[in-house]
Amino acid sequence: MKTLLEITTSIFSDSGQSSRLAKRFVAAWRQINPDGEVIVRDLTKEPVPHIDAGRFGALLAKPAERTPEQQAVVAYSDALVEELKRADIIVLGLPMYNFAVPSTLKAYFDHIARAGVTFRYTETGTAVGLLTGKKVYVFAARGGLYGGTASDSQTQYLRHFLSFLGLDDVEFVYAEGLAVSDTARQEGIARAEAQVDRLVQREAARMCECGCD
Ligand SMILES: Cc1cc2nc3c(=O)[nH]c(=O)nc-3n(C[C@H](O)[C@H](O)[C@H](O)COP(=O)(O)O)c2cc1C
Repeated sequence: MKTLLEITTSIFSDSGQSSRLAKRFVAAWRQINPDGEVIVRDLTKEPVPHIDAGRFGALLAKPAERTPEQQAVVAYSDALVEELKRADIIVLGLPMYNFAVPSTLKAYFDHIARAGVTFRYTETGTAVGLLTGKKVYVFAARGGLYGGTASDSQTQYLRHFLSFLGLDDVEFVYAEGLAVSDTARQEGIARAEAQVDRLVQREAARMCECGCD
């Protein structure tokens, strides 16, 4: 049985365009994985608190020395990490807000990047990600047009961060130009939806190669 972790970050929750694309993929994935497990993490409905000195200190404290408050902080972070570890596939809805990833996603990242848990340093100082063997699909929605240009401030950051945790197999689908005009919006969404559908077909074909009837 496969596990899919769906992370959405739109301020509009399920109605955000990035969430809709993510959910389109997840709905189709459920059809081809009827026994699969889907874990939903909506960072707008349940925001992760911003990291602060107290929370960071709790994550660094030795287990035997943690106060009850620190234990609660670590347990919360552990639960987020556990979802990631369980997932075979991670689906991320990614709006662009002011040229960056949503602040809710950054807060989430600050709780899951943990030395000795999701990455470690070798003796030579190289970082090694510990969340390996997973596929990540990113469904990005933007008002403007940035794909493939130096102005795309999200893609490189996200690839770098995910790779730091060992998540190297990352594929992006972009719905762009959503604020340019009605026509550009419709075309951008239609293109992205068609790409989502192709990804699902590919997933289905892969499953058959691995042994469907
Ligand atoms: C607060 C805010 C900031 C935005 N900043 C940008 C931006 O910097 N660049 C851009 O292309 N679109 C920007 N947009 C447009 C969004 O990227 C677009 O509406 C997209 O659909 C958001 O994804 P969502 O519908 O999943 O929330 C912004 C929208 C909002 C609400």
